[in-house]
Amino acid sequence: MSDAIGSPTRAANPALLTLYEEIADCPACELARTRTQTVPGVGPAPAEVMCIGEAPGAREDERGLPFVGPAGRFLDQLLGSVGLSRETVHIANVVKCRPPGNRDPQPEEIAACTPFFERQIAIVDPLLIVTLGRFSMSRWFPGASISRIHGQPKRFGGRIVLPMYHPAAALHRGDLRPVIEADFARIPELLEQARREGPAGNGSVSEPSSPYLPASAAAAPRPSTEQRALL
Ligand code: URA
Repeated sequence: MSDAIGSPTRAANPALLTLYEEIADCPACELARTRTQTVPGVGPAPAEVMCIGEAPGAREDERGLPFVGPAGRFLDQLLGSVGLSRETVHIANVVKCRPPGNRDPQPEEIAACTPFFERQIAIVDPLLIVTLGRFSMSRWFPGASISRIHGQPKRFGGRIVLPMYHPAAALHRGDLRPVIEADFARIPELLEQARREGPAGNGSVSEPSSPYLPASAAAAPRPSTEQRALL
């Protein structure tokens, strides 16, 4: 495993480590029976920028790390183009186990992962969230079409959310590559804005509750006061 890419076991944040251990033991949906290993995420917490994809593919399932295949190489280039890297950005997926054959994750699989995903966002506590593809986009923009809203940031509470096409889209459709690059190029300016405005930024709307979060999961374990103190 290369240091440039990182390791989920290097998560130094105690709340994140606890979360990753719980994810590793999760039996909650069918994907638990076909996965090689869970892919919880990688990168520091807290982190100013969090990139959120869909679900692990074959390479990610083998290595236990998000975005280590061809789409990941493009993501690394995009991060580099705005002076960011895996060392400074937190990278995760909505779903933590590989859907067989890289099919779309099913609503019940997304629902099973949502309490983990919500805790991960709370622990990472990013100023800027970059959603990669429609599955993470729909957490903040339910029912929206990516072709209409990509590259248009919106503030939710203390965070700015920037919806983007999934980097894999550029591998299938070359015409999307410059579109994704242009959307990514907005990150430095948006990060600066988020830093300047702080938690009560202009035009802020409250964080929506997850469309996938069942009522019972709203009470899912949160980091303890002690763990929060360490964030
Ligand atoms: N696509 C994703 O959405 N996530 C990964 O980790 C890899 C490919």
